[in-house]
Amino acid sequence: MQNYLHINDLDNLQAVVDEAVELKKNELEFGFLGKGKTICLLFFNNSLRTRLSTQKAAQNLGLNCIVMNFGSEGWQLEYEDGVKMNQDKSEHVKEAAKVIAQYCDIVAIRAFASLTDKEKDLAEVVLNNFKKYAGIPVVNMESATGHPLQALADAITMEENKVPHKPKVVLSWAPHPKALPHAVANSFVEMMQLQDADFVITHPKGYELDPKITKNSKIEYNQEKALENADFVYVKNWSSFKEYGEVMISDPNWMLTADKMKLTNSGKFMHCLPVRRNVIVADEVIDSRNSIVIEQANNRTYAAQIVLKKILESL
Ligand code: CP
Repeated sequence: MQNYLHINDLDNLQAVVDEAVELKKNELEFGFLGKGKTICLLFFNNSLRTRLSTQKAAQNLGLNCIVMNFGSEGWQLEYEDGVKMNQDKSEHVKEAAKVIAQYCDIVAIRAFASLTDKEKDLAEVVLNNFKKYAGIPVVNMESATGHPLQALADAITMEENKVPHKPKVVLSWAPHPKALPHAVANSFVEMMQLQDADFVITHPKGYELDPKITKNSKIEYNQEKALENADFVYVKNWSSFKEYGEVMISDPNWMLTADKMKLTNSGKFMHCLPVRRNVIVADEVIDSRNSIVIEQANNRTYAAQIVLKKILESL
């Protein structure tokens, strides 16, 4: 595998999930693969799980790992070609990406959506410019439109909690005081489209995700109806895609409660974290035995490790 920018960069999702489940049994087995090689993790935005789990995954594979909070410590980068750089941008991505590529063998990048410039966000300006100019493998640690490491961790977690029938999986919007990007929801949808499942997305009208991503996935505007007999309930907030980045409704009745979970088939509660308790999900749900959010976060290490292993094997 050359790059991991999207869940579809995996040749066969189920085979990779099975391999990750095996890898967990002996996470240091491939500690020789990264020997003498280096990965740079560049964070243009905050992180807890992605930063620590990707660093741990790299270390498990024997990689040297350099972490930089680019957003707060790096120079502001220019991405446009041919501009006169006499404003606030100090360095062009052309030089920055080429220079960084001299220090490492793989670069992993976190760069969220602006939620103000839809065109630039959809063009994945940061990720694609690094891919264009670095000339080394690039890993997406959450970009403007996707979070494929999270989606792979979610797939691993669902495999480990699988039910003995075709599962019903619900992705539910939930309220949040701030405008959040679509990346996690997008990648979860794209991952679910590769699974044999009864998959339903539920949200208030106006919160439709990018139709180029949801394609034919079922949308049910009645959350309680959507939750009926669900085996997995993945809750996430996102801002409007059509009215780009707007918080149009913040209806507290969309919070996931214990009463709503009674409608499910003893469903497992999932969230990528961080989560706002008693806004997105009630305490009694996230603290219940059916909550698998800590397992999800643990699987971030194995999702990153299997991806880095595949890239190292192709170097
Ligand atoms: N789920 C996730 O990506 O967590 P962080 O933002 O803390 O990395």
